[in-house]
Order: sequence, then structure tokens, then C-alpha cells
Amino acid sequence: MSDRYLVVGNPIAQSRSPHIHALFAAQTGQDIDYTAQLVSLDGFESAIKLFVAGGGLGVNVTTPFKEEAFHIASRRSPQANAAGAVNTLSFQNGEIVGDNTDGIGLVRDLTQNLGSSITGRRVLLLGAGGAARGVLNPLLAEQPKILVVANRTLERAAGLVAMLANVGTCEAASLAAIAGREFDLVINATSAALNHGVSPAPTGVFADGAMAYDMMYGRETDFMTQARKSGACVADGLGMLVEQAAEAFYIWRAVRPDTAPVLAAMRDLILAEQRVSR
Ligand code: ATR
Repeated sequence: MSDRYLVVGNPIAQSRSPHIHALFAAQTGQDIDYTAQLVSLDGFESAIKLFVAGGGLGVNVTTPFKEEAFHIASRRSPQANAAGAVNTLSFQNGEIVGDNTDGIGLVRDLTQNLGSSITGRRVLLLGAGGAARGVLNPLLAEQPKILVVANRTLERAAGLVAMLANVGTCEAASLAAIAGREFDLVINATSAALNHGVSPAPTGVFADGAMAYDMMYGRETDFMTQARKSGACVADGLGMLVEQAAEAFYIWRAVRPDTAPVLAAMRDLILAEQRVSR
């Protein structure tokens, strides 16, 4: 029987993870069975226990269970502790090990796939929820010149920055306070687009030649449109999704897949789906 893995969330139908892991497995010759499971809002812990009891080896966790996954882990990686959230669980010798690969996924996509260095650059992170917290430390580890966390609710941004051990290059701001202040890299980690909200980026934040990165993927968001109009180079979060998955695959299988062909295949698939739905 194949080694079993799962992605759980609510909702889950939209998840691309089973497809991505199937492509990794085919490429690396790993015999795995990776499926998606919808879990009721109060059923996370029992779903995990059932999966472990049945011999499952690992679980990817998506919204809204990443914090609960953090709490059920009996051991956590430094990345998980910094993020306060877990997106990858591994079951080893009776232990539940929690990891977080989101930040590594973002940094790899930016630096390796998009050729956009973070080191020495002025970085703006929009949002102060779970998505922003998950990537904050890995971004800082790249040593940007400055990293500003700007949020609609200033207190939440201030709370995130206050949790950092070394706040030297990081500051919190309200969205209004950063209007007109230029950045080389602007990352949208808000959920504004989920509610079809307008872009959270105030005017004048994109420096000449700036990179605008939206963690969303699958459609043009208001943030992407605004960034394009401002002359920025625009990227969506599909690469981050594939890279975080590759890191989870590596944690589980000790084999690192080549992400480039998988990212290209997923990009083609999404474009084809968009053409059909038009
Ligand atoms: P997630 O886990 O996706 O980060 P979250 O913890 O609910 O979800 O955080 C959502 C983030 O998007 C927050 O930073 C939120 O701002 P507030 O802290 O002020 O609520 C931000 N956000 C959501 N809708 C937004 C909008 N329309 N404009 C600007 N920011 C928005």
C-alpha cells in the first residue's frame, strides 16, 4: 500500500495540493497517496487522530486549522514557533511534529523563481493576520534594508512586530501612514481580495522597478491591477504554493522535487480552466 498523506481544511474543494503532490511523486518516483479531506470546524483534532491511527504519515493543514495544528503538535520546528501556526504535520514514533513551510515557500519563489532579491531592499508587508505572521521571520532572515508591516488595524501590525526577537529592521504602520513611501518589494498578505475588497496598498508605495507579490493566485486581484498600473512587476502566489508544498514533500520524503516543471504545469492548468470558464 502507498504511504498516505492528506490535506485538511474547510473549505477544501479548491485545494491544488493533491495535484501538486501527485506531480512531485511522479517526478521523484515516490509511492504516495495524497488526498484532500473536508473537516468540520470542530472536527480537526479527531480527524487527525483517526488518520494517524489508520497509519497516515503526514498532513498539510490549511485555513482555518493552522493554529489548531500548532496546538496539537507535540514538537514544533523553529519556523512553526515563529509563525505561531503549522501547515505541515508529520507523525513519527508516536509524536506529532509541526512545521511551517509557508515562509520558505514565499522566499524561494521570490528569490529563486522570480529572481527578486530581498536582501538590502525596502520591503512592505501588507496585512497582519496569520498569512503575514507566517512569512515575517523568513523575510527578515533575508536581511531587507527595512521591513514595514502595514495593516488596516495598526494595533495588529504593532502586535506582530512586538513579538519579534530582533525588531531592528522591522516597523509597524497603518495603511494611511505609508502612502507615498516607496518600497522595492510590496507583498499583499491581506484577505481583502477574498471579499472582493479593493487593494489594501495606498498610492505611491511602488518604487521604480518594484516587485508586487500577491499571495493570492488564480485570478487578477485589485492589488495586482493597481500594481501593474503603477509600473510594478507583478507576481501571484502560485509559486509560493508550489514551493511550500515542495518543502513539505521534502520534510516527509527527504527528497527535493524540481519545482519548475510543476509550477509550469499548474500555471497551464489554471489558465486552461480560466479559458473554459470564460
Ligand atoms: P489570514 O490568516 O488570511 O491572514 P486573518 O488572520 O483574518 O486571515 O487576517 C486578514 C488580514 O487581511 C488582516 O491583516 C486584515 O486586516 P485587519 O487586521 O485590519 O482586519 C486584512 N484585511 C482583510 N480585509 C481587508 C481589506 N478589505 N482591506 C485591508 N485589509 C484587509
